[in-house]
Amino acid sequence: MDKKLIDRLTKRENEGTLRSLSFYTGMVDFFSNDYLGYASRATSVCDLQFSSTGSRLISGNSSIAEECERFLANRFVSNAALIFNSGYDANLGFFSSVPQKGDTVVYDAYVHASIRDGIRLSFASAFSFKHNDLEDLRLKLSRATGTLYIAVEGIYSMSGDQAPLLEIVRLAKEYGAYIYLDEAHSAGVLGENGSGLAVELGVEEMVFARLVTFGKAFGAHGACILSSENTRDYLINFAHSFIYTTALPPEQYMRIMEILRDADLETRRMNLHKNCQLLNEKLGIERDGNSPILMLGTENRKELRLISSLLNSAKFAAKPIFHPTVPVECEGIRVSMHAFNTADEIDSFAHQVSGLRPIQS
Ligand SMILES: Cc1ncc(COP(=O)(O)O)c(C=O)c1O
Repeated sequence: MDKKLIDRLTKRENEGTLRSLSFYTGMVDFFSNDYLGYASRATSVCDLQFSSTGSRLISGNSSIAEECERFLANRFVSNAALIFNSGYDANLGFFSSVPQKGDTVVYDAYVHASIRDGIRLSFASAFSFKHNDLEDLRLKLSRATGTLYIAVEGIYSMSGDQAPLLEIVRLAKEYGAYIYLDEAHSAGVLGENGSGLAVELGVEEMVFARLVTFGKAFGAHGACILSSENTRDYLINFAHSFIYTTALPPEQYMRIMEILRDADLETRRMNLHKNCQLLNEKLGIERDGNSPILMLGTENRKELRLISSLLNSAKFAAKPIFHPTVPVECEGIRVSMHAFNTADEIDSFAHQVSGLRPIQS
């Protein structure tokens, strides 16, 4: 391999941020996005094809794909839905195709890498604003030109806090900006039946486009962008990550609908909230009780690695997250709560991590 590439790996190793693959079995899950415990649930047997055989625009479309999109639009209170193979693809497709040259995307400094990558592929200008800082957002909007887009998340994937959506809606109105709300971690968690933050606050009509992913709380795979019919038509025509890829296998649409129709979903969601509050209580943390994500930090990377291996030895699956996935000051163990964690598990996990400092914005 090129020496320049080896040097980059060596630099990461020296800094203690080298990524490597690992997997865990037989441990208590405090790290996955399987918030409602649907990942291991079998879907009823169906005789649909295992492969979609092509892209949606050629052989990969089907009545079940379109049925699933109509179902999703209705389920998440939207005019239309378009399914992508993942949330990464959806964000990439939206941001690389919708904002045009001369337009501006103003995005929260903590948005997911998939939004940033989409912005990098776009010809629009882009500025970040300080995380959840409405004054900075206003400043950036006041300097922006062309059509304005604001990119935020319902629940931030690493810090676990919510976007102040009502205030952002007010600012968007004032500046005539379009809001893009990534609900990867808030769909399934917030709002009745897991309908997400925008629906919970009753502002879904003020949000230009919303992302819902199925690989997290809903225990399936793929994602959809909820939008107007026009925006859906636009994405079908211009979003490369929708156009130039083989569609999801038909059985996945079935699974998505089956889980989203599950009568038990609301009970699981309430259990999740109860468990989030229990962990907060055990750790003496005061914060919005309904976020399943909590970042716990230490003084340095070495200590962080040590504590996470101690957690693993105690059979708790939890992983440290380093820069560049998060800013250096936010490095920590990303704890995620689930509907299925027991009170005993939460109690002994809290005991193990009691020396760590919650990273809150
Ligand atoms: C906020 C956010 N958006 C988008 C994605 C991408 O979704 P997917 O995993 O379906 O590609 C993630 C995944 O971690 C995420 O955390």
